[in-house]
Amino acid sequence: MKIPLIIDTDTAQDDCVAILLGLLDPVADLRAITMVAGNVGFEQQTKNAFMTLSVAGALGECPVFLGCRRPMVRAWVSAENVHGDGAGGLTMDNSGIEPEAEHAVDALLRLTKESPGEINVVAIGPLTNIAMAVIKDPTFPDRVKSLYIMGGSNNARGNITAAAEFNFYVDPDAAKVVFDAGFDITVIPWEPLTIQDALFSRQHMAEIGAGGSPVASFFAQVCEATLDFDESVGIPGSSHPDSLTVALLLHPELITKSALYAVDVEADSELTRGYSAMSWGIHGLKANARVIEAVDAAAFFGYIKESMATPTTPSREILGLKR
Ligand code: RIB
Ligand code: CA
Repeated sequence: MKIPLIIDTDTAQDDCVAILLGLLDPVADLRAITMVAGNVGFEQQTKNAFMTLSVAGALGECPVFLGCRRPMVRAWVSAENVHGDGAGGLTMDNSGIEPEAEHAVDALLRLTKESPGEINVVAIGPLTNIAMAVIKDPTFPDRVKSLYIMGGSNNARGNITAAAEFNFYVDPDAAKVVFDAGFDITVIPWEPLTIQDALFSRQHMAEIGAGGSPVASFFAQVCEATLDFDESVGIPGSSHPDSLTVALLLHPELITKSALYAVDVEADSELTRGYSAMSWGIHGLKANARVIEAVDAAAFFGYIKESMATPTTPSREILGLKR
């Protein structure tokens, strides 16, 4: 049986790869893409999502809903210094392509009302849309089968500050609402998990890029900026937290170690804004999430390599795509 999912995304680089898994993996039933403010400009993120649909040959097959254009109470913080345009300079003629008219928050509420208890939500950007859906309808968590969140670090270093990972840093207020809402949550943290098990070296990247399909070339070009940035800050490869998050929903056999934690996010301090406190069971706090601690890194790499080699006929020409 297929796994129904909605991907809530700030589409740039690895968000594109995550969407590709949702489109190309035969076990995935991608019901919608919902856009949230995060990595790069909102309009650019939306273009990146449509271009990702196109390279998979799926333009028009999965609805794109536009959501919150800034965090709940703060100004937007971008990661354009990491991602550039988030698409490796690739472009596409977008004429005639329109997102859905319905707001992403309303779409999340409606789609889960139509299929209560069936849909998994994979949140790979700041948690603004998910929190706003909870605030608008507190019964939303009861209708979501599971919520997979890429965010935070498991008592480890951040990436945008020493204390915080980007998604939680951008909208810590939303993250607090979400962890308190009663979802069945799985967390895919930045450190140590992503750096330990979802990092692809230049050699790995070249192998995936040589897959011979439009998707493989797209992957190599789109992820180049992350690879350069990660290396520039001492991380020896390209990081893939968002695609790992989708992969673990679709293929839980990749998970080798996980545990229940009480997760909370710092929203008051400037110094530690977005810090995720993950309590592992000895502090008397009630667990509210499963945190992934280790995955089969070799199998994850093999899965991405195989997925990116899927032959496709792009719906529209991607300008700049090397073949
Ligand atoms: O910190 C990693 C997260 O922020 C990922 O979701 C990625 O898209 C990034 O910019
Ligand atoms: Ca993301």
